[in-house]
Amino acid sequence: MKTFETTIIELLNELQVNPEFSVADMADSNLIESLLLSEGEIQQNLFSCARSIRQRHFGNKLKIRGVIEISNACKKNCDYCAMRSKNPNLDRYFLEKDQIVSIADDIISLGIKTIFLQSGENLASDAIINDVITMIVKKHDCEILLCLGEKKQETYNQFSNLGAKSYILKFETSDSKMYKNITGSSLEKRIDCMNYIKQSGMNLGTGNIIGLPNQKIDNIVSDILFAATLQPDFVSASPFIPNSGTPFENLRMGDINITLNTMAIWRILLPQALIPSVSALEYVHSEGQAAGLNAGANVITVNFTPKTNRDKYAIYTKDRFVVSLEHANKTAQKAGLVLDI
Ligand code: 5AD
Repeated sequence: MKTFETTIIELLNELQVNPEFSVADMADSNLIESLLLSEGEIQQNLFSCARSIRQRHFGNKLKIRGVIEISNACKKNCDYCAMRSKNPNLDRYFLEKDQIVSIADDIISLGIKTIFLQSGENLASDAIINDVITMIVKKHDCEILLCLGEKKQETYNQFSNLGAKSYILKFETSDSKMYKNITGSSLEKRIDCMNYIKQSGMNLGTGNIIGLPNQKIDNIVSDILFAATLQPDFVSASPFIPNSGTPFENLRMGDINITLNTMAIWRILLPQALIPSVSALEYVHSEGQAAGLNAGANVITVNFTPKTNRDKYAIYTKDRFVVSLEHANKTAQKAGLVLDI
Protein backbone atom coordinates (compact mmCIF):
# COMPACT_ATOMS: atom_id res chain seq x y z
CA MET A 1 0.00 0.00 0.00
CA LYS A 2 1.20 3.49 -0.85
CA THR A 3 2.00 5.80 2.03
CA PHE A 4 0.57 9.31 2.14
CA GLU A 5 4.13 10.54 1.60
CA THR A 6 4.61 8.73 -1.70
CA THR A 7 1.21 9.95 -2.83
CA ILE A 8 2.25 13.56 -2.13
CA ILE A 9 5.53 13.09 -3.99
CA GLU A 10 3.70 11.61 -6.98
CA LEU A 11 1.23 14.50 -6.94
CA LEU A 12 4.03 17.06 -6.85
CA ASN A 13 5.90 15.29 -9.65
CA GLU A 14 2.75 15.27 -11.73
CA LEU A 15 2.10 18.98 -11.08
CA GLN A 16 5.66 19.76 -12.02
CA VAL A 17 5.65 18.08 -15.40
CA ASN A 18 2.03 18.38 -16.41
CA PRO A 19 0.48 21.87 -16.33
CA GLU A 20 -2.95 20.38 -17.07
CA PHE A 21 -2.88 18.32 -13.90
CA SER A 22 -5.51 19.62 -11.57
CA VAL A 23 -4.36 22.22 -9.07
CA ALA A 24 -7.69 21.54 -7.36
CA ASP A 25 -6.01 18.43 -5.96
CA MET A 26 -3.90 20.80 -3.92
CA ALA A 27 -6.83 22.58 -2.34
CA ASP A 28 -7.26 19.84 0.19
CA SER A 29 -6.49 21.02 3.68
CA ASN A 30 -4.89 17.71 4.81
CA LEU A 31 -2.54 17.83 1.87
CA ILE A 32 -1.72 21.48 2.49
CA GLU A 33 -1.04 20.77 6.15
CA SER A 34 1.43 17.98 5.34
CA LEU A 35 3.16 20.13 2.74
CA LEU A 36 3.36 23.01 5.22
CA LEU A 37 5.11 20.81 7.76
CA SER A 38 7.25 19.00 5.21
CA GLU A 39 11.00 18.65 5.49
CA GLY A 40 13.50 16.48 3.61
CA GLU A 41 12.44 14.76 0.40
CA ILE A 42 8.86 16.00 0.30
CA GLN A 43 9.94 19.59 0.94
CA GLN A 44 12.57 19.37 -1.82
CA ASN A 45 9.91 18.00 -4.18
CA LEU A 46 7.61 20.83 -3.18
CA PHE A 47 10.29 23.43 -3.92
CA SER A 48 11.23 21.84 -7.20
CA CYS A 49 7.57 21.77 -8.24
CA ALA A 50 7.25 25.46 -7.31
CA ARG A 51 10.39 26.33 -9.31
CA SER A 52 9.23 24.56 -12.43
CA ILE A 53 5.87 26.36 -12.28
CA ARG A 54 7.75 29.67 -11.88
CA GLN A 55 9.98 28.76 -14.82
CA ARG A 56 6.93 28.02 -16.96
CA HIS A 57 5.33 31.41 -16.24
CA PHE A 58 8.29 33.73 -15.73
CA GLY A 59 11.35 31.98 -17.18
CA ASN A 60 14.57 32.68 -15.26
CA LYS A 61 13.71 36.36 -14.65
CA LEU A 62 13.77 37.90 -11.19
CA LYS A 63 11.58 41.00 -10.90
CA ILE A 64 13.12 43.89 -8.98
CA ARG A 65 11.15 46.55 -7.15
CA GLY A 66 12.69 49.73 -5.78
CA VAL A 67 11.07 50.80 -2.52
CA ILE A 68 11.01 54.30 -1.02
CA GLU A 69 9.64 54.42 2.53
CA ILE A 70 8.08 57.86 2.54
CA SER A 71 6.84 58.10 6.14
CA ASN A 72 6.91 56.07 9.36
CA ALA A 73 3.91 57.88 10.89
CA CYS A 74 1.17 55.35 11.61
CA LYS A 75 -2.20 55.58 13.25
CA LYS A 76 -2.51 51.83 13.76
CA ASN A 77 -1.27 49.90 16.76
CA CYS A 78 -0.22 46.50 15.49
CA ASP A 79 1.45 44.57 18.29
CA TYR A 80 4.27 43.35 16.03
CA CYS A 81 5.29 46.71 14.58
CA ALA A 82 7.45 49.42 16.16
CA MET A 83 5.85 52.05 13.92
CA ARG A 84 2.64 51.60 15.99
CA SER A 85 1.28 54.94 17.18
CA LYS A 86 1.70 53.94 20.83
CA ASN A 87 5.48 53.76 20.45
CA PRO A 88 6.67 57.15 21.75
CA ASN A 89 10.35 56.38 21.12
CA LEU A 90 10.28 56.68 17.37
CA ASP A 91 11.20 59.89 15.61
CA ARG A 92 8.51 60.29 12.92
CA TYR A 93 9.41 61.58 9.46
CA PHE A 94 7.89 62.48 6.08
CA LEU A 95 10.09 62.63 3.00
CA GLU A 96 9.67 65.71 0.79
CA LYS A 97 7.90 65.27 -2.54
CA ASP A 98 10.90 66.44 -4.57
CA GLN A 99 13.18 64.12 -2.66
CA ILE A 100 10.89 61.15 -3.40
CA VAL A 101 10.71 61.97 -7.11
CA SER A 102 14.46 62.39 -7.32
CA ILE A 103 14.98 58.94 -5.73
CA ALA A 104 12.42 57.54 -8.18
CA ASP A 105 14.53 59.02 -11.01
CA ASP A 106 17.58 57.19 -9.62
CA ILE A 107 15.66 53.91 -9.40
CA ILE A 108 14.49 54.23 -13.01
CA SER A 109 18.00 55.10 -14.19
CA LEU A 110 19.16 51.72 -12.81
CA GLY A 111 16.65 50.01 -15.10
CA ILE A 112 14.20 49.11 -12.33
CA LYS A 113 10.65 49.45 -13.62
CA THR A 114 8.63 49.28 -10.40
CA ILE A 115 8.61 52.24 -8.01
CA PHE A 116 7.26 50.98 -4.71
CA LEU A 117 6.03 53.74 -2.37
CA GLN A 118 5.49 52.55 1.17
CA SER A 119 4.30 54.37 4.29
CA GLY A 120 2.85 53.82 7.73
CA GLU A 121 -0.93 54.32 7.65
CA ASN A 122 -1.59 58.04 7.97
CA LEU A 123 -3.72 60.63 6.18
CA ALA A 124 -0.89 63.09 5.53
CA SER A 125 0.86 60.58 3.24
CA ASP A 126 -2.12 60.59 0.85
CA ALA A 127 -1.62 64.17 -0.34
CA ILE A 128 2.12 63.56 -0.78
CA ILE A 129 1.44 60.37 -2.73
CA ASN A 130 -1.14 62.01 -5.00
CA ASP A 131 1.36 64.63 -6.13
CA VAL A 132 4.26 62.19 -6.31
CA ILE A 133 2.32 59.77 -8.54
CA THR A 134 1.47 62.66 -10.89
CA MET A 135 5.07 63.84 -10.97
CA ILE A 136 6.49 60.36 -11.62
CA VAL A 137 4.04 59.31 -14.34
CA LYS A 138 4.68 62.59 -16.20
CA LYS A 139 8.34 61.63 -16.54
CA HIS A 140 8.49 57.85 -16.57
CA ASP A 141 6.77 54.85 -18.01
CA CYS A 142 6.87 52.64 -14.92
CA GLU A 143 4.70 50.65 -12.54
CA ILE A 144 3.80 52.58 -9.40
CA LEU A 145 3.12 50.18 -6.56
CA LEU A 146 1.71 51.46 -3.26
CA CYS A 147 1.58 50.06 0.28
CA LEU A 148 -0.05 52.69 2.50
CA GLY A 149 -2.63 50.77 4.51
CA GLU A 150 -6.40 51.08 4.76
CA LYS A 151 -8.01 53.99 2.92
CA LYS A 152 -11.47 55.12 1.84
CA GLN A 153 -12.71 53.67 -1.43
CA GLU A 154 -12.45 57.07 -3.15
CA THR A 155 -8.80 57.37 -2.09
CA TYR A 156 -7.92 54.07 -3.77
CA ASN A 157 -9.85 55.23 -6.85
CA GLN A 158 -7.92 58.47 -6.88
CA PHE A 159 -4.54 56.71 -6.65
CA SER A 160 -5.59 54.48 -9.52
CA ASN A 161 -6.89 57.40 -11.65
CA LEU A 162 -3.64 59.28 -11.13
CA GLY A 163 -1.66 56.33 -12.48
CA ALA A 164 -0.83 53.92 -9.64
CA LYS A 165 -0.95 50.36 -11.00
CA SER A 166 -0.78 48.19 -7.90
CA TYR A 167 -1.41 48.19 -4.15
CA ILE A 168 -0.28 45.82 -1.40
CA LEU A 169 -2.49 45.31 1.65
CA LYS A 170 -1.62 42.18 3.59
CA PHE A 171 -4.31 40.39 5.58
CA GLU A 172 -1.55 39.32 8.05
CA THR A 173 -3.75 36.50 9.42
CA SER A 174 -7.08 35.21 8.13
CA ASP A 175 -8.28 34.47 11.67
CA SER A 176 -10.55 37.40 12.50
CA LYS A 177 -10.16 37.09 16.30
CA MET A 178 -6.38 36.91 16.05
CA TYR A 179 -6.36 39.82 13.61
CA LYS A 180 -8.46 41.94 15.98
CA ASN A 181 -6.31 41.05 19.00
CA ILE A 182 -3.05 41.88 17.26
CA THR A 183 -3.99 44.94 15.22
CA GLY A 184 -6.89 46.36 17.23
CA SER A 185 -8.98 46.66 14.07
CA SER A 186 -11.31 44.47 12.06
CA LEU A 187 -10.36 41.94 9.40
CA GLU A 188 -13.70 42.61 7.71
CA LYS A 189 -12.73 46.21 7.11
CA ARG A 190 -9.38 45.10 5.70
CA ILE A 191 -11.11 42.68 3.32
CA ASP A 192 -13.43 45.52 2.23
CA CYS A 193 -10.31 47.56 1.46
CA MET A 194 -8.86 44.70 -0.61
CA ASN A 195 -12.08 44.66 -2.61
CA TYR A 196 -11.92 48.46 -3.08
CA ILE A 197 -8.38 48.06 -4.40
CA LYS A 198 -9.50 45.45 -6.93
CA GLN A 199 -12.51 47.53 -7.94
CA SER A 200 -10.28 50.57 -8.51
CA GLY A 201 -8.54 48.60 -11.25
CA MET A 202 -5.21 48.33 -9.43
CA ASN A 203 -3.45 44.99 -9.07
CA LEU A 204 -3.81 43.59 -5.56
CA GLY A 205 -0.97 42.23 -3.46
CA THR A 206 -1.58 40.58 -0.11
CA GLY A 207 0.00 38.13 2.31
CA ASN A 208 0.45 36.87 5.84
CA ILE A 209 2.90 36.68 8.74
CA ILE A 210 4.14 33.27 9.88
CA GLY A 211 4.76 32.76 13.61
CA LEU A 212 2.30 35.14 15.26
CA PRO A 213 1.50 34.20 18.88
CA ASN A 214 -1.12 31.44 19.19
CA GLN A 215 -1.06 30.88 15.43
CA LYS A 216 -1.54 27.17 14.70
CA ILE A 217 -0.85 25.20 11.54
CA ASP A 218 -4.61 25.20 10.89
CA ASN A 219 -4.55 29.00 10.83
CA ILE A 220 -1.80 29.01 8.22
CA VAL A 221 -3.69 26.45 6.11
CA SER A 222 -6.66 28.85 6.28
CA ASP A 223 -4.39 31.76 5.30
CA ILE A 224 -3.21 29.83 2.26
CA LEU A 225 -6.72 28.96 1.12
CA PHE A 226 -8.01 32.45 1.91
CA ALA A 227 -5.35 34.07 -0.28
CA ALA A 228 -6.12 31.58 -3.05
CA THR A 229 -9.77 32.64 -3.02
CA LEU A 230 -8.80 36.32 -3.22
CA GLN A 231 -6.88 35.57 -6.44
CA PRO A 232 -4.34 38.33 -5.78
CA ASP A 233 -1.74 39.44 -8.32
CA PHE A 234 1.03 39.23 -5.69
CA VAL A 235 1.22 37.25 -2.48
CA SER A 236 3.86 37.07 0.24
CA ALA A 237 4.64 35.18 3.42
CA SER A 238 6.95 36.76 5.94
CA PRO A 239 8.40 35.20 9.09
CA PHE A 240 7.40 37.09 12.22
CA ILE A 241 10.30 39.17 13.59
CA PRO A 242 10.18 40.24 17.26
CA ASN A 243 10.54 44.00 17.18
CA SER A 244 11.82 46.07 20.12
CA GLY A 245 9.42 48.74 21.35
CA THR A 246 6.44 46.43 20.77
CA PRO A 247 4.35 44.13 23.00
CA PHE A 248 5.80 41.21 21.00
CA GLU A 249 9.46 42.11 21.50
CA ASN A 250 10.28 39.00 23.55
CA LEU A 251 8.58 36.41 21.37
CA ARG A 252 10.29 33.86 19.12
CA MET A 253 10.95 34.46 15.43
CA GLY A 254 8.69 32.79 12.86
CA ASP A 255 9.74 29.45 11.43
CA ILE A 256 11.66 29.79 8.17
CA ASN A 257 10.65 26.35 6.85
CA ILE A 258 6.96 26.97 7.32
CA THR A 259 7.40 30.36 5.64
CA LEU A 260 9.19 28.81 2.65
CA ASN A 261 6.64 26.03 2.40
CA THR A 262 3.80 28.58 2.42
CA MET A 263 5.46 30.44 -0.46
CA ALA A 264 5.93 27.23 -2.46
CA ILE A 265 2.30 26.16 -1.95
CA TRP A 266 1.13 29.61 -3.09
CA ARG A 267 3.30 29.29 -6.19
CA ILE A 268 1.39 26.08 -7.02
CA LEU A 269 -2.06 27.48 -6.20
CA LEU A 270 -1.43 30.90 -7.78
CA PRO A 271 1.02 30.13 -10.59
CA GLN A 272 0.87 33.60 -12.16
CA ALA A 273 1.28 35.56 -8.92
CA LEU A 274 4.36 37.62 -8.20
CA ILE A 275 5.82 36.21 -4.98
CA PRO A 276 8.52 38.25 -3.23
CA SER A 277 11.35 36.72 -1.27
CA VAL A 278 11.12 39.23 1.59
CA SER A 279 14.05 40.80 3.41
CA ALA A 280 12.82 39.29 6.71
CA LEU A 281 13.91 35.90 5.35
CA GLU A 282 17.48 37.19 5.16
CA TYR A 283 17.16 38.46 8.73
CA VAL A 284 16.10 35.08 10.13
CA HIS A 285 18.69 33.16 8.11
CA SER A 286 21.73 34.14 6.09
CA GLU A 287 20.94 33.39 2.44
CA GLY A 288 17.26 33.27 3.48
CA GLN A 289 16.22 35.25 0.39
CA ALA A 290 18.03 32.78 -1.89
CA ALA A 291 16.07 30.05 -0.07
CA GLY A 292 12.89 32.02 -0.86
CA LEU A 293 13.76 32.05 -4.57
CA ASN A 294 14.52 28.38 -4.31
CA ALA A 295 10.96 27.92 -2.99
CA GLY A 296 9.42 29.58 -6.06
CA ALA A 297 9.56 33.33 -5.33
CA ASN A 298 10.28 35.67 -8.24
CA VAL A 299 10.59 39.19 -6.78
CA ILE A 300 13.13 41.02 -4.62
CA THR A 301 12.61 44.55 -3.32
CA VAL A 302 15.67 46.78 -3.19
CA ASN A 303 15.65 49.56 -0.59
CA PHE A 304 16.20 53.17 -1.74
CA THR A 305 15.05 54.99 1.41
CA PRO A 306 17.65 57.63 2.35
CA LYS A 307 20.09 56.22 4.94
CA THR A 308 19.08 58.79 7.60
CA ASN A 309 15.44 57.67 7.45
CA ARG A 310 15.92 53.92 7.02
CA ASP A 311 16.50 53.15 10.71
CA LYS A 312 13.36 55.02 11.58
CA TYR A 313 11.27 52.86 9.26
CA ALA A 314 11.02 50.28 11.98
CA ILE A 315 9.11 47.44 10.38
CA TYR A 316 10.65 44.11 11.35
CA THR A 317 13.46 45.47 13.61
CA LYS A 318 15.87 48.37 13.93
CA ASP A 319 18.64 46.17 12.57
CA ARG A 320 16.47 44.80 9.76
CA PHE A 321 18.28 43.53 6.68
CA VAL A 322 18.40 46.32 4.10
CA VAL A 323 18.51 44.93 0.56
CA SER A 324 20.90 46.54 -1.96
CA LEU A 325 20.89 45.97 -5.70
CA GLU A 326 24.20 44.15 -5.31
CA HIS A 327 22.69 41.77 -2.76
CA ALA A 328 19.69 41.17 -5.05
CA ASN A 329 22.05 40.36 -7.89
CA LYS A 330 24.13 37.91 -5.83
CA THR A 331 20.97 36.28 -4.50
CA ALA A 332 19.58 35.90 -8.02
CA GLN A 333 22.81 34.26 -9.15
CA LYS A 334 22.70 31.78 -6.28
CA ALA A 335 19.21 30.78 -7.39
CA GLY A 336 20.09 30.60 -11.10
CA LEU A 337 17.99 33.66 -11.96
CA VAL A 338 18.80 36.94 -13.72
CA LEU A 339 17.56 40.40 -12.78
CA ASP A 340 14.76 41.60 -15.02
CA ILE A 341 16.20 45.08 -15.49
N1 5AD B 1 7.35 40.66 11.50
C1 5AD B 1 6.90 40.24 10.29
N2 5AD B 1 6.28 41.04 9.40
C2 5AD B 1 6.11 42.32 9.73
N3 5AD B 1 5.57 43.35 9.06
C3 5AD B 1 5.68 44.45 9.83
N4 5AD B 1 6.29 44.16 10.98
C4 5AD B 1 6.57 42.83 10.96
C5 5AD B 1 7.20 41.95 11.87
N5 5AD B 1 7.65 42.36 13.05
C6 5AD B 1 4.96 43.24 7.74
C7 5AD B 1 3.44 43.23 7.79
C8 5AD B 1 3.03 44.50 7.08
C9 5AD B 1 4.21 44.75 6.18
C10 5AD B 1 4.35 46.16 5.70
O1 5AD B 1 5.32 44.38 6.98
O2 5AD B 1 2.97 42.11 7.07
O3 5AD B 1 1.84 44.38 6.33
